[in-house]
Amino acid sequence: MHADQPILFFDSGVGGLSIVAPVRMAMPQARFVYAADSAGFPYGTRDEAEIAARVPALLGRLAERYRPRLIVIACNTASTIALGAVRAALDVPIVGTVPAIKPAAERSMTRTIGVLGTAATVRQAYVDDLTARFASDCRVIRHGSADLVTLAEAKLRGEPLPAGAVRNAIAPMLAAEGGDAIDTVVLACTHFPLLADELADAIPRPVTFVDGGAGIARRVAYLTAGQAFVRDQPDAAVFTGAIGDGLPIALQRYGFETIEQW
Ligand code: DGL
Repeated sequence: MHADQPILFFDSGVGGLSIVAPVRMAMPQARFVYAADSAGFPYGTRDEAEIAARVPALLGRLAERYRPRLIVIACNTASTIALGAVRAALDVPIVGTVPAIKPAAERSMTRTIGVLGTAATVRQAYVDDLTARFASDCRVIRHGSADLVTLAEAKLRGEPLPAGAVRNAIAPMLAAEGGDAIDTVVLACTHFPLLADELADAIPRPVTFVDGGAGIARRVAYLTAGQAFVRDQPDAAVFTGAIGDGLPIALQRYGFETIEQW
């Protein structure tokens, strides 16, 4: 272990920045590399086999190139499908991002929870399992939205969002049977905390949003406790494909000064 080895964050796009922010707060001494698979974006509308093949292979190449001390899969879709395969393939500690159903169930008073993710995430057996283990006495209403992912990317590029777009994207969740009792919503896609204000405005009553960011920051700090850190290079972001106009400015706000394309 060298003191300059980074922590590598991986997502299909810029959603993982919602995980970078709390980890940065917890570990300002660490060097970060942010990898966005923009050539494979979006993941949420792909099938399981594609993601299961793509993510471990790509992370293997990224690990060879950047030699991270730890990898955060800052993507619920990739984590719920490929976490086991990535752990089996790589000799690096891997922290995944999976829907925060447990803390949501702990705080819901109405025992009605919304799980807002991508279509690929909300249909995973991983989510069935979390629901059975931690929310068996709750009504859990799952909703997959590709539009919210697109809107979050647009917001990060600095584009104005069409009026009503966020409201329309979550309308089916609220209109589902029992949806009027939802008091807690799991943001089960890392893009969605980037739209926290818009989501709060789009729900006509107070609802608590829960995501995995704080828990991941604690986990990363725990797994790297006692390690030496030196920041001798700027934090870098790497894209496997296109880098949208406006993204470099957003990435700089999150501390990534160098932007590379693969
Ligand atoms: N940010 C990702 C997630 O947490 C996926 C977005 C996408 O590529 O569809 O699920």
